Amino acid sequence: VSTRFYDFKVQTKRVTKLCNTKDIVTINGKFPGPVVYAQEDDRIIVKVTNKTPFNITIHWHGIRQRLSCWYDGPSYITQCPIQAGQSFTYNFTVAKQKGTFFWHAHVSWLRGTVYGEYWMKDLQEIEHSTLASGGAPPRADAFTINGHPGPNYNCSINDVYQLDVVPRKTYLLRLINAGLNTENFLAIANHKLTIVEADAEYTKPFTTDTVMLGPGQTLNVLVTADQPVGKYSMAVAPYKSGRIVHYQNISAIACFNYLGAASESLYLPAKLPKLDDKLAVKTNKKGSYTEDFPDTPSKFYNFVNGAPNNIPHDTQSLNGTRTKVLEYGSKVQLIFQDTGTVNIENHPMHFHGHSFYVVGYGTGNYNPQTAKFNLVDPPYMSTIGVPVGGWAAIRFVADNPGVWYMHCHIDIHQSWGLGMVFIVYNGKGESESLPPPPADLPQC
Ligand code: C2O
Repeated sequence: VSTRFYDFKVQTKRVTKLCNTKDIVTINGKFPGPVVYAQEDDRIIVKVTNKTPFNITIHWHGIRQRLSCWYDGPSYITQCPIQAGQSFTYNFTVAKQKGTFFWHAHVSWLRGTVYGEYWMKDLQEIEHSTLASGGAPPRADAFTINGHPGPNYNCSINDVYQLDVVPRKTYLLRLINAGLNTENFLAIANHKLTIVEADAEYTKPFTTDTVMLGPGQTLNVLVTADQPVGKYSMAVAPYKSGRIVHYQNISAIACFNYLGAASESLYLPAKLPKLDDKLAVKTNKKGSYTEDFPDTPSKFYNFVNGAPNNIPHDTQSLNGTRTKVLEYGSKVQLIFQDTGTVNIENHPMHFHGHSFYVVGYGTGNYNPQTAKFNLVDPPYMSTIGVPVGGWAAIRFVADNPGVWYMHCHIDIHQSWGLGMVFIVYNGKGESESLPPPPADLPQC
């Protein structure tokens, strides 16, 4: 077990992409941002210094932050933003966790300027005009793979990420959908992908041609370079409004390049799924469950489009964030019910501070009489794509005292209010109570 120190300077950087020059917000001038490395149980200490005029926080997505919610990062939930010129030191452990996590800004739509997609206009302006209009947000100007859009866009013919592979070797690819508002498919021409991890938990291996990730979802996949030596395209295309947007012109393309391939060889195109493929609801099973599996929940909540409908509330969305107190140790079952019918995407519902077992999901309305639950080997995740027009059931033990945001990871939905907060309260105190906030926690 070791302690890892990082220095994050939040600073703007002038970038030219797609024949357009603008300032983007970066960490240490990097786009995409720096990778934080750690091993299971390590302590991570990151000093974040804000050298921009904007408010900033950083969230360590997927890290359960056991007894350390002060370092979780969602702005105005567990901390005020780090203001211009100020700094804050995040300090937490990766206790009993390993895999791929995702750090991102957690204040307004700023995470979109840090990485994932590429936007030519200023994102804060896009956020303001979108919210003022009440309409759907615009699509990113380009999708990117490791910051590179690939040849499909204006002026991007040479801006291509290349992954060099040795023939016959097997690689682990860490996939993160860091986009703001679109679910994405990923495929590699002529190659199979074997999913082995979702949301930083092992899964039963599952082999497929294409994977789909909602914003905020992470997957690790294995891919073997078992094809004739050559160049193959790796494509990321958006899935939105219940159908795949015509992807020929807007997919990000990277080059999956076998060492020894002739440099002039053309990429084979990656095949992306057809409109009726039901990839959206595919989830994967965890190998086994642990002794803390909540098989007899005592609290039951039903969510309709993100708001709990068996907790008294107004029909209009609120100006504040709804909170619900859970007594420490409660075993909780939540049903997410999506009531969308046409042209609406799945909702990637993300929970801070806990992972949860996905015990069921399906189309249509949840019906406790007919719903089938998997209580044997349910996947253990922190973001679940609630199927469009369908439902998902999750269970967790509220065993991490603190304040925990639960929200749709599609930023426009979060802005419209698709989120709430659980306060896990240990009234008895004892060993499992939340320590007081750190002295340098930013003030509003
Ligand atoms: Cu990546 Cu509040 O989430």
